[in-house]
Amino acid sequence: LHVLVLAGGLSYERDVSLRSGRRVLDALRAVGVEAELRDADVALLPALAADPPDAVVIALHGATGEDGSLRGVLDLCDVPYVGCDARASRLAWDKPSAKTVLREAGIPTPDWVALPHDRFSELGAVAVLDRIADRLGLPLMVKPAQGGSGLGAAVVRDAASLPAAMVGCFAYDQTALVERYVPGMDVAVSVLDLGEGPQALPPVEIVPRNGVYDYAARYTAGRTTWHAPARLDPATTERVAEVALAAHTALGLRDLSRVDLIVDAEGQPHVLEVNVSPGMTETSLLPLAVQAAGLDFGRALGTLVTRAAA
Ligand code: DAL
Ligand code: MG
Repeated sequence: LHVLVLAGGLSYERDVSLRSGRRVLDALRAVGVEAELRDADVALLPALAADPPDAVVIALHGATGEDGSLRGVLDLCDVPYVGCDARASRLAWDKPSAKTVLREAGIPTPDWVALPHDRFSELGAVAVLDRIADRLGLPLMVKPAQGGSGLGAAVVRDAASLPAAMVGCFAYDQTALVERYVPGMDVAVSVLDLGEGPQALPPVEIVPRNGVYDYAARYTAGRTTWHAPARLDPATTERVAEVALAAHTALGLRDLSRVDLIVDAEGQPHVLEVNVSPGMTETSLLPLAVQAAGLDFGRALGTLVTRAAA
């Protein structure tokens, strides 16, 4: 089996992707899979044509890797890959679209407003912000409609800090997602299908040292503490797993994903987003969940590539 791990690319999450890619490569090689790492650059198409791999692992985060475009290219080249198809990827990547699908499926997700930059400029910041604060209340979560790793995201606790948060967000995307902030426990549920249908791995509880799970907290060793499994009672753990699986299925995902949720004080899970190309770095959550499930990361990846290539 000859596996190509794609990492890098030109998104804001390039560095994270390179770290994910190296870890995936090492894990696959450790279980005897012949794997190589390459960037998703302009020479990718000729390389795929000259030497088509049996399967691709997409360790690209952000645009290209998660927005469906690379998956479309791989489909065009008839190269199989681990993970969902281009259409499901595009849907999950756009947070307002994904949240609409989740809500229609009866899966709890915090109330939100999607605000394009043009509309923000046209109405004037003050009017827009008043309306949003009226409708959703405070605090709010502001994040790019399409993005990842906490880049351009901010918690807004008072109306006066909303404009700065919006500006920070518009640096990363033309559309802002403004969400009701749900206080509670930050939990990530990784979903894996190793041949018996999608299974929820043990939920991972995220406790950032400074209270905010931002880019530094995600990728700097020592900035975040995890509990795997999360410190939830058995009934809540089961509910969280059910909601995560429902979200994975509602979005039409395949093979693997990571569902990010908040569990509120009543034990109710609220889905924030679903990642089709979750981080695989040394401080990432899916590898941690795999370990908590008593599985070997390399073997799990080996099963996924074997299934993709079949
Ligand atoms: N966007 C980062 C890589 C994650 O979801 O883990
Ligand atoms: Mg994400």
